[in-house]
Amino acid sequence: MTEINITELTLYCKAFSGLTVEREAILKEIAEELTPHLSRVTDAFYTELDKIDKAKPFLNGKSEGLKKTHEAWLKGLFTNDFDDEYAKFLYHVGDVHVKIELPVEFMAGAMTQIQRNLTPILFELFGNDPERLIAIMEAIIAALGFSLQIMQESYQSSTLVTELDKFLKITGMSRILFNNLAKAYSL
Ligand code: HEM
Repeated sequence: MTEINITELTLYCKAFSGLTVEREAILKEIAEELTPHLSRVTDAFYTELDKIDKAKPFLNGKSEGLKKTHEAWLKGLFTNDFDDEYAKFLYHVGDVHVKIELPVEFMAGAMTQIQRNLTPILFELFGNDPERLIAIMEAIIAALGFSLQIMQESYQSSTLVTELDKFLKITGMSRILFNNLAKAYSL
């Protein structure tokens, strides 16, 4: 993992996405009722991905295994604590996708699909109480946004490291010289 301050990153992403302690509690409250329905979201996710040409090379023969991984991650949204350990896991998940060169826009696209496919289920289960439904939707949007931000942070750091490595290779400059120049430049 690149050098990052995971506590700082977690706090920053929580503030940005609106993932408060109260919303984390809501996610856990609905876990039992919602979990049996989550396989529908995963199935819809892969059906939609299958229609995207650019996604095909990443799914070839792997869809069944990936479905299990994806569903486990989705269930985890409603059971895990959103602490530094979990943020580290999300950062690692981002990194796994960087390594396979999954285009970065797939992350935001995937979150949009998940949110859209969850919406009718939430209405089905909690639609009789609009105030609660809104609170639940806010909590889910916050948790998905938080996850997306952490995964994308990983993309950003990994891309920078890759670009710098390429620059050093092309120019023949040592990492020490680069660090010294960067330090001098910022003075
Ligand atoms: C919401 C967005 C996504 C989440 C949360 C997610 C989650 C995960 C997780 C938890 C893993 C396992 C990481 C590990 O090995 O520890 C994984 C691997 C993988 N994901 Fe995703 N994923 C997302 C989007 C996608 C999309 C859109 C695609 C392809 C179109 C994709 C393709 C893959 C592939 C091919 C692997 C296996 C990488 C390997 O081990 O070779 N993922 N994903």
